[in-house]
Amino acid sequence: MPDTFTDEQRQFLQLLGMPVPGDPPPEMVQAKPMVEAPTILPNRPVSAQAQPASASRPSARRDVGSATAALLPTEVAPTPPVRSPPPPLKAEALQAPVLATQTSTPSADPQRITRIATLDWRDLNNMVSTCQACPLGETRKHAVFGAGNPRGSWLFVGEAPGAEEDRRGEAFVGRAGQLLDNMLRAMGFSREQDVYIANILKCRPPNNRDPLGPEVQACMPYLQRQIALLQPRVIVALGRFAAQGLLQVDTPLSQLRGTTQHYQGTPLIVTYHPAYLLRNPIDKRKVWEDLKRALAVLRQ
Ligand code: URA
Repeated sequence: MPDTFTDEQRQFLQLLGMPVPGDPPPEMVQAKPMVEAPTILPNRPVSAQAQPASASRPSARRDVGSATAALLPTEVAPTPPVRSPPPPLKAEALQAPVLATQTSTPSADPQRITRIATLDWRDLNNMVSTCQACPLGETRKHAVFGAGNPRGSWLFVGEAPGAEEDRRGEAFVGRAGQLLDNMLRAMGFSREQDVYIANILKCRPPNNRDPLGPEVQACMPYLQRQIALLQPRVIVALGRFAAQGLLQVDTPLSQLRGTTQHYQGTPLIVTYHPAYLLRNPIDKRKVWEDLKRALAVLRQ
């Protein structure tokens, strides 16, 4: 660690539970956002934004094309389109990411992939919850569709549910999730209002082992459809599997970090997975640089 820290670095590390030499213990640090959300969220006039169903903060909303809005959960009020939606995904684009090693499994069936690409949010959720496209369908307790606000401007993508997520059927609710929540808080966000959180795999691999190629191949069309419906303004890939899976590259995380990538035209920033940070807290300080990059991308 460096000997000196900027106030910003210091506050971020404190929020992530990493004491900085010479600072008060974490319990004395007030957990307030380091960034005022309204300054970094989409600059659409507040008056033009529908009020969220569950929250009063207008910055929690983000713009969704009307066709897409119709596909989102009904309890969430639609908002007028501001951006044009991305072009429809081609069947080839929905094929296996680079991490996949097989191409002839039933889950690679082009008809299945094309069908997933037409589902609305509710039907997609239903299909995921009963999915048996790979052997993880046998071992999971719950498929984990995602968490957060489908109308948030931000999409965070993790790897796969862990034990707690499998038990509760919700993304990032274990220890890694608590750290992710702190990262969000440092950005002035909350998962309830500003972000949606999804995973590359919707089912937990036994003993939290790494996802296998055919599992990623089977699950990727779900995430691709989620992204097409969500239309996030920026995507943050948490860890190697999320980054490589979304970008369909084998490039090491170390080379992807510090750059602005794109997923189908949407800016994508790569950072460490919170579970990695729990094991390697020294790297928490690098995460703030990544998140600042993401904030700057959104501001542009
Ligand atoms: N790790 C992930 O990648 N996703 C979760 O939902 C939980 C832990």
